[in-house]
Amino acid sequence: MSRPKISVIGAGNVGATTALMLAGLEHGDIVLVDIVEDMPQGKALDLMEMSPVLDYDSVITGTNNYDDTAGSDVVVITSGIPRKPGMSRDDLISTNTNIVKQVTEQVAAKSPNAILILVTNPLDAMVYVAHKVSGFPKHRVMGMAGALDSARFMSFIAMELGVSVENINAFVLGGHGDDMVPLERFTTVAGVPITELMPPDRVEALIQRPRGGGGEIVKLLKTGSAFYAPAASAVEMVEAIVKDKKKIIPSCVLAEGEYGIENTFVGLPVKLGKTGIEEILEIKLTDEESKALHVSASHVKELCEHIEGMGIL
Ligand code: NAI
Ligand code: 2OP
Repeated sequence: MSRPKISVIGAGNVGATTALMLAGLEHGDIVLVDIVEDMPQGKALDLMEMSPVLDYDSVITGTNNYDDTAGSDVVVITSGIPRKPGMSRDDLISTNTNIVKQVTEQVAAKSPNAILILVTNPLDAMVYVAHKVSGFPKHRVMGMAGALDSARFMSFIAMELGVSVENINAFVLGGHGDDMVPLERFTTVAGVPITELMPPDRVEALIQRPRGGGGEIVKLLKTGSAFYAPAASAVEMVEAIVKDKKKIIPSCVLAEGEYGIENTFVGLPVKLGKTGIEEILEIKLTDEESKALHVSASHVKELCEHIEGMGIL
């Protein structure tokens, strides 16, 4: 039985780290693609040379040629520019729309049955671009953001309380922006609601931190944005798909009426399995939660309208 074929487009910080983790976990054979000549080849060779040390048999190929990606089962798209201090994710829109469009065209031509996981920012709008350009059905085009934003939220809670991350259950919905929606009501520590464990002002501070979580790291790194937790979050989604885990992971998907949101890409809880998005779970939200989700979704809609106005799709 052959291993799943996973292509990672963009061999920069997120892409190379994703390839490293996918190989280490033997989730498949990996094709690492970048526009920069020789660089993905160099990183792939380095990863192959690490395999006897970490004991993995995944084959990692570096390339500048999409022919090598042909027949991929899953494609993770990380190509694009990251933020620098002072920039918002939305500031990346024009450059990254062009990159994601061009990459998606080539990926879709070579791997018409692949499942696409977008990482490039502004995330939700880039999922829209990839969906439109690929023409793939909506269950095969999704974005990584909720997994990362939820992981950040959970790590902050574990750090605050000094407990194992394994005890924390929480998730974040909405777009991958400052108006993302961490859901306090469903946040538990060993099954105990977080509101029972700390005063309201601490809960509020923990809810705010993932909203600025990406910016917090950009400010510290100064030359780019986070990549370890983002790569791990993309790998969590790939694993759910290639192992058909039916795992619930908040992901950016096309909402067509779910949560009262029409025709917009936004982070919702979804079940991921071998066919991609197998179900969008509909949780009953309070009026306040629902309003916050709609505000976040309308921001994504505005970005997508802006992209439409650029006239390049
Ligand atoms: P990076 O600059 O380290 O890597 C980007 C890579 O894309 C570079 O190697 C570049 O040569 C390559 N690239 C550019 N144009 C290309 C093209 N046309 N074809 C193939 N490769 C191309 O950036 P990093 O840190 O890896 O971030 C990548 C993207 O992911 C950024 O847009 C960033 O904002 C986003 N991001 C999104 C997250 C999320 O939660 N969705 C989390 C972290 C990053
Ligand atoms: C993050 O949240 C840059 O979107 C990226 O770290």
